[in-house]
This record gives sequence, structure tokens and C-alpha cells, in this order.
Amino acid sequence: MTTPAAVTFAPFEPDALASATGVVAAFVPEDSKLDQGARRLNRLTKGAVARATESEAWGKLKPGETLTLGYPAGIEASAVVLVRLERKSDFETAMAAGAALAAARGDRPLTLIAGSHGAALDIALGAALRGYDFTDHKTGDEAKPAAKITVLCARPDELTAAWPDRAAQAEGVFLTRDLVNEPANVLTTTEFAMRLEALRDLGVEVEVLEEDALAELGMRCLLAVGQGSRSPSKVVVMRWTGGGDEAPLALIGKGVVFDTGGISLKPAAGMEDMTMDMGGAGTVAGAMHAIARRKAKANVVGLVGLVENMPDGNATRPGDVVASMKGDTVEIINTDAEGRLVLCDVMWYAQDRFQPKAMIDLATLTGAIIIGLGNDNAGVFSNDDALADAFLSAAKAENEGAWRMPLGKSYDKLLKSRVADMKNVGGRPAGSITAAQFLQRFVKDGTPWIHLDIAGVASIEKGTQLSPAGATGWGVRALDRLVRDAYENG
Ligand code: BES
Ligand code: MN
Ligand code: ZN
Repeated sequence: MTTPAAVTFAPFEPDALASATGVVAAFVPEDSKLDQGARRLNRLTKGAVARATESEAWGKLKPGETLTLGYPAGIEASAVVLVRLERKSDFETAMAAGAALAAARGDRPLTLIAGSHGAALDIALGAALRGYDFTDHKTGDEAKPAAKITVLCARPDELTAAWPDRAAQAEGVFLTRDLVNEPANVLTTTEFAMRLEALRDLGVEVEVLEEDALAELGMRCLLAVGQGSRSPSKVVVMRWTGGGDEAPLALIGKGVVFDTGGISLKPAAGMEDMTMDMGGAGTVAGAMHAIARRKAKANVVGLVGLVENMPDGNATRPGDVVASMKGDTVEIINTDAEGRLVLCDVMWYAQDRFQPKAMIDLATLTGAIIIGLGNDNAGVFSNDDALADAFLSAAKAENEGAWRMPLGKSYDKLLKSRVADMKNVGGRPAGSITAAQFLQRFVKDGTPWIHLDIAGVASIEKGTQLSPAGATGWGVRALDRLVRDAYENG
């Protein structure tokens, strides 16, 4: 697993500054007034800091942007990075500053002169999140040790105590990114299940249901998706029980390790991107990691359906009719609309077995959501306004884009089948909504539910502020925050 930077907090010692190696960073507000630490750095570098902040280039910086001074005299460090940042800055700007520092640092250790800056933890989290690189399959580069970030601050004990919750989030995000970036020949259903079993080390109970058990349970929709693959279909159940006897929050993930479309084969161009079609399951894994790592006082159960959608002599055909675990039958018009077939059985099983307080499913479900919302927002579908609002505010607080989408009877009608209880596609109009309607048919009355269509946000071509190109880990922080804000009971 890619490990986030090791962040430590230490008291500000002027003498330690001169001998710090790597990059030393200081924050300077718009009025260019240097705080105690920056003044010290200025003195050591014989006025280089002040010269820089009086320069024209400095005047052009936006909040959160940086200016780098290379090989300054007077100190050991190979660079000084000055960050334009007010003493009171919002979460987004502080995270942006951290991300800019991660870029400026490269592979070098980073010493942050944070003093009593109010956003020191957010800055450190931004730096940790942006410091991700997926290099497992690059030969030649030696595996780099985890980066070191030292935060020199006024109250190191306080920040040291508060950091582990943030570190848990960063680890969860990195786990999700690693899983989503992994190619499908490496991350088979079997390998995926093994990596989830590693969550046992954090106290998560992990159970792997194999094909015979799934057949016994009647999960024929899920099995129909995987039957053309050499990789066996699996459902993995991850239970974190930090909340006593309360009914759990259930997180359900689509884990299609590769989606060729099946017999309704996808076109060749861009098919390689379908290695990320397990993004929902990857996000559930990352969220479970974060929740367990910080020992959340809540009950959360994560269930993922792991399958591979391949064309083969044994693959499901368009027109096949299969029964779901619920009992409703589905006419599979298009084998490429496979995610909903996986989810419907896992969702039913989750409700049947755990009677969850609420259920949230995550899936790279439709290309249509990318047309609608692009790469900045996941689609949020819900039967419960209070739950939807709680999730939307958690996502907003973590600065993860999420946008509510509608559900409704007239969309549901589009799923009518001539031969079965429903068909698995509703045609091109409102493609993301009809997919959500399909799922809603498997939500029991009285279960508050959210469906998150993350096809546009799970993996992206261009890097964002907090993540390089590829897997983003979107949703791990929002779910972790939702659990903290709405489900913890202590
Ligand atoms: N995994 C895809 C959705 C997807 C597309 C994810 C692009 C990420 C990027 C899903 O299984 C799929 O193929 N959906 C079809 C549904 C259609 C056949 C009704 C789609 O969106 O085209
Ligand atoms: Mn598909
Ligand atoms: Zn898919």
C-alpha cells in the first residue's frame, strides 16, 4: 500500500531551522508581515525572505500559492518555499496550500513553520493527500520511503493528538487510490478479496462469500455478471462494530474489476479505463479503513460485490432473464448495464441480514453521469431528504463535489419489460436516473438510502488540487465525516 507522509509536530526551535534538510516552508499573509518563524528564517537567509515577499512575483500570488527560493545562503535546506496564506484561512485554501507544498517539495523532506497558524492540520492533510504517486509497476525507480513532514508549531501536543483522525483519512484515500489504479490482471476478484482481508489488522471483521454461497443465497443477478469470467465472483462483508448494539450504516460498493461490457461489448477506444470500474468497492474499502483506523464509535458494515464482466461462451446473453435474490426477475437487455445487477443483490442481502439504519451504495454506474456532471460532482440519488442533506453537507465540508439528482415514478416506468418484472436498461434519456430507479426497486420501504454515481469522480484524466491523474479516492473523506457527524454515539 502506498503510505501517506509521516507527519510529526514539534516545538519551534530557531536553531533547528538552520540545520533542517530538504525544504523549509513559511506562511506569509497578504500584508507580507512576517511572523516570528518567518522573521527568523529571513535573518538566517540574510534577508532573502523579505526580498522575495517584496517582489513583483509575490504580489501576483493567489492565496495558497507558493514562491520557491532555491539554495538560499545561511541554511542547510535546499529550498525555502513561501506560501501566501492568511492566518485565518478556510479549509479549501489551507488544503490548497498543503497541496502546493507537496508539489514544491517533490521527494524532499518538508519542514513547515506553522507557529500558531489555525489551519496547520488542514495544510498538513493537503500536503499528505497530494503527495501520492502510483509507482508499483514502474521498474528502475526504487520504492521511495514515505515522505517526512515536520510541523514546527506553538502547541505540538494538541496537534499531535488531533492528527491521527486526519492520518486515518489520508490512509483510507491512499488505499482507495491504490485499488482503483491497480490494473485488472493484478487486481482480480481473488486479489481484491485478499487485500480486503488485510483490514482485519485494524479490527475489521472480514468475511468472503464464494460463488456456492452466493448461489445458495439466490444472488443470480450478481452471478450472471461474473459467469463469463475466469475470476470467481465474490461478496466481501466488512464489519466495524464500534457502536454497541445500534443498527449499522451499510456501505455497498460496485466492484467490477474489469468491465468489457460482456456480450454487449464496449468499443476498444478507452476500454482500458474500465479497470476503475471497481471504484465503488474501492471507496467502501478506503472508508472502512479510515473508520476503523480512527476507532469510530459507530457500527458500519461495508459490502462489496466483486465480479468481472467478460464475454465468453458461458457469458450472459442479451435477452436472458434472471431472478434476483429479492425474487424479482430481470430481463438483461444490455450486458454492459451490469453494475446495477451486482448492486441489487448485494443491497438486498445487506438489508436482509443487517437491517441497516441507512444504506449508501457507491458505483461507477453510468457514463451518463459524466455527461451530466463532468468530473467535479458525483450524482446523489436518495429516497430520504434528511440523509441526503447530511451526506451533502459532509461532502461539502470535505470539499468533495456532490450534486443531488431526481428520482420519480415516470422514470421508473422506463424499466418495464415485456417478459420479466423489469429490464436492466431504460434507454438513453436520463440514463443515470433510470439506473438509480432500478436500484431503488431493491430498497426496502423505510430504509433511508443514497445511491452515489461516482463514474465521473473516481478516476480522472487530469490531476486535481489534491490528487494526481488517475484514482482520486473521492468519497472516503465525506463518508468518514458523515459517520463522525451522524452515526457516532459517544
Ligand atoms: N462501468 C460503466 C459506466 C462507466 C462509464 C463508468 C464510463 C466510468 C466511465 C457501466 O457499467 C456501463 O457500462 N454503463 C452503461 C449503461 C448503459 C448500457 C445503459 C453506460 O453508461 O453506457
Ligand atoms: Mn458496463
Ligand atoms: Zn460497469
